[in-house]
Amino acid sequence: MSQPELSVPRPEPTISSDIAKVLISAHALAQRVHELGAAIDRDFAGQEPVLVTILQGALVFAADLMRTIQHHVLLGSVLVSSYPIGTERSKEPEIIADLQIDIRGRHVILVDDIVDSGHTLRALLNRLQRRDPASLSVAACLDKPSGRETPVPLRYVGFEVPDAFVVGYGLDHSGRYRNLPYIGLLRENAIRD
Ligand code: IMP
Ligand code: MG
Repeated sequence: MSQPELSVPRPEPTISSDIAKVLISAHALAQRVHELGAAIDRDFAGQEPVLVTILQGALVFAADLMRTIQHHVLLGSVLVSSYPIGTERSKEPEIIADLQIDIRGRHVILVDDIVDSGHTLRALLNRLQRRDPASLSVAACLDKPSGRETPVPLRYVGFEVPDAFVVGYGLDHSGRYRNLPYIGLLRENAIRD
């Protein structure tokens, strides 16, 4: 006598199933971010720097970084689109929402997710420099030096990554994968469009 077939619900695949390889684990990110926060604490003791997050990509990194800093900081953000929809990789990022706070005479740290060609940061550094900050430096979670087309000074860098498209920890592919807690490489078949 045959058993009635049981229908066992299959678990929905998670976004992790689109990842071919984890490049930087959540644990390694947390450790490195703590080191960067400690360096910022040392370098800006008594200065109350302004952390300017470049949204959306740097959202996760900035949220973690600011919580490792033990002195006062002010927060600001700019919302940019490095590759405006429907265009080829453009050299001028589109500023969708500009920085709202006064940075004249203040120490500013631009917080970015990844520096690839460097064009986005170059353009933002030029714009912010015109507002007369006391100093302007960059904290980047990831550096992809192989992509560099314009030099940008990076004061704080989390990790160097190889010449590959990475996602997670704020970085996206077509708006997705930002919520992965680690940095990974996408599987070929997950790369649509
Ligand atoms: P850049 O202007 O070429 O330096 O790069 C600017 C932006 O492109 C970064 O801030 C990211 O938002 C995005 N980007 C560059 N490389 C990657 C990647 O490997 N994965 C996801 N986003 C990337
Ligand atoms: Mg970005």
